[in-house]
Amino acid sequence: MQLTRRSMLVAMGLASAWAATPLAALARSIGKRADAPFIEALIAKMTLEEKAGQLTLLPSAWGGSKAAQFNPPGNGQSFDQQVADAVAGKLTGVFNGNGAEMARRMQHAVMTQSRLGIPLMFAADVIHGHRTLFPLPLGEAASFEPELAERTARAAAFEAAGAGIDWTFAPMVDIARDQRWGRVMEGTGEDILLGSLFAAARVRGFQGDDLTADDAMLACPKHFAAYGAAEAGLDYNTVDISERTLREVYLPPFKASFDAGALTTMASFNEISGVPSTANKWLMTDLLRGEWKFPGMVVSDYTGDEELIMHGFAEDGKDAARLSILAGVDMSMASNLYMMHLPALVREGLVPESQVDESVRRVLTIKAVLGLFDDPFRRIDPAREAKRSMTAQNIALAREAGRKSIVMLRNEGGVLPLPLSSKVALIGPFAEGPHDLIGGWAVYGDDAQAVDLATGMRKAGGTVTVAEGCGVETPVPGGIEAALEAATGADVVVLSLGEAQTMSGEAQSRTDIIVPRVQQELAEAVAKLGKPMVVVLRNGRALALEGVIRDAQAILVTWYLGTESGTAIADILYGSHSPSGRLPVSFPYDTGQQPFHYDRKRTGRPQPPGPRVDYKAQFREVPNEALFPFGHGLTYGEVRYGDLHLDGQVLPWDGAVTVSATVTNSGSHAIEEVAQFYIHDRVASVTRPVRQLVAFDKVALAPDQTKTVSFRLDRSMLEFYGLDEKPVVEPGEFDLWIAPSAQAEGASGKIRLTA
Ligand code: NOJ
Repeated sequence: MQLTRRSMLVAMGLASAWAATPLAALARSIGKRADAPFIEALIAKMTLEEKAGQLTLLPSAWGGSKAAQFNPPGNGQSFDQQVADAVAGKLTGVFNGNGAEMARRMQHAVMTQSRLGIPLMFAADVIHGHRTLFPLPLGEAASFEPELAERTARAAAFEAAGAGIDWTFAPMVDIARDQRWGRVMEGTGEDILLGSLFAAARVRGFQGDDLTADDAMLACPKHFAAYGAAEAGLDYNTVDISERTLREVYLPPFKASFDAGALTTMASFNEISGVPSTANKWLMTDLLRGEWKFPGMVVSDYTGDEELIMHGFAEDGKDAARLSILAGVDMSMASNLYMMHLPALVREGLVPESQVDESVRRVLTIKAVLGLFDDPFRRIDPAREAKRSMTAQNIALAREAGRKSIVMLRNEGGVLPLPLSSKVALIGPFAEGPHDLIGGWAVYGDDAQAVDLATGMRKAGGTVTVAEGCGVETPVPGGIEAALEAATGADVVVLSLGEAQTMSGEAQSRTDIIVPRVQQELAEAVAKLGKPMVVVLRNGRALALEGVIRDAQAILVTWYLGTESGTAIADILYGSHSPSGRLPVSFPYDTGQQPFHYDRKRTGRPQPPGPRVDYKAQFREVPNEALFPFGHGLTYGEVRYGDLHLDGQVLPWDGAVTVSATVTNSGSHAIEEVAQFYIHDRVASVTRPVRQLVAFDKVALAPDQTKTVSFRLDRSMLEFYGLDEKPVVEPGEFDLWIAPSAQAEGASGKIRLTA
């Protein structure tokens, strides 16, 4: 790249202005091709159109791939037109295209023919794997093992970066407390701590230690912010929450992601209390850049800027682009509005050029951080793409992650694990066939390359007779009769039931989170035979279980486990491994309890124990609690918690106390138990939840083994947002539990924090 004297001078002047900013610190940390003068010199040479181009991200026009199903390709452009636009400097990169060959062709054209030779950046929705699919993020959260999520994210980056992808639109870190919302599946569920730990782990996994590495991918925690708080769980719907709830519940996973090194974020579609995120200056600038010192860049969601018009917040496309850039949204996804309007907005004085420059500076710095100026082809190598795809190591990891994501809700009479010799009737729409295995948000995956349940059970050595019984939402002629016939000669019935993978995900909100009626009818018919019944659920959200499904002897929650679905489930069904997953979302008695989260407030009229009394906060039909709460999950062992032990009755202001309890496995299987540490602040200047998870520990226990689990408690774990919206800790009494779920008593006690 040629640097002229003028551009150097301009660059040095501008550079001194931002030398003290977090972005400059970031640039300095990554070597000479990203230093301030280099980037400023480039900006000084750019036309307004080229600047707008660097802020414009479009769906790939490559087409012909599964990726194209997720986004209408290329805004109607042909691939050749898109390449020509890239050469003309009209786009910064493309997303959800397919493979290294596509990237090579685009990058080669830009590097050899464009005026400034600014490399393109390739993005994609790599949510829970690329070609090898790991469990749905919600499922993987059930492992309560953030380190596992870090490993699967690393493996996903290895494959995806091998296919030319620089940037993933993940992790999705939206706290989700309403199971009607379809995108619950993409995050970690209802809990703040679990959400924050998994968010940070996934960022570390995607990005690795060195963002210039050819197996590193830039992370993009999304959707900033509070997308999961949509009214009625209706996707894209209005969010109206207090600043305290925003800060205390919805923002921590974002902060954790940024602290872990995430350098981008995506604006959410929703409004918050009247202001759509894509135009929310308080959120994108005052909080993110001001208070949090975030050095990175913000991308809109898909046409998020254009949607300001439908929100009734912008007059037209030009007004939408103005509001969005002024709020601090650096890059426009899919709408092309920045390309169309930013140059004119600057020329007319409606947007200061310095604001556009600041966004361009962020984008170019990110490209430099990714090592693209040093080597634009570092992630683009078609030969390497094939070598990295679905390696034996990644497939083994998918099986491990699958197994660890399964949650056993009930196991009456020890019906599980099944002896390998048992004759199994495997019945239901998810029993067999290449569908509903990898989940609905796998842009590059293929169900045909995943193991279904029947195959997994047979591979394990089981004897299985399969009957579909019914479709997911429709009957199959003769289905019930065939199912009954299969069940008649069997020792045990395994019912594979639940939601199709298209029933959760974006825009897939449900008003009733039940297993579809037709499947319930199938289960009722089979239950009449009186055989032991094991329900294996496939689901992208918590479900309200009913009737014979709810009452089955054993219930496993298996989400969508990815490439190794069937083998992972068979590992648990036949007992080569004990279940160890825990619910990251509470399973309610009834949909009407939504939104539901275990860490709710007590109210002034809490429901008393015992029979129902009037004028209390309770439903007529069902208890206030969950049927299966957050944190619940059984093992093949028999677990007992001993008494709570504290090494001091008082927690000194600047001190710490060790809180411990013994956990015993008196069963005959080796297990992993997730011991959860909860607190409750009895009296505070702002009302506090009935319980809150502050730590957890996964403990391996051999048969007849007892271990002591210990947690260090200090005052930082008792913090909350006070009346001034700032973190505060107040002296007083706190209840403590080390317990196997948010509703279990486990080992309990109390402590006093002194000033
Ligand atoms: C819309 C979704 O909300 C977002 O999560 C995704 O990354 C983009 N589409 C791009 O596919």
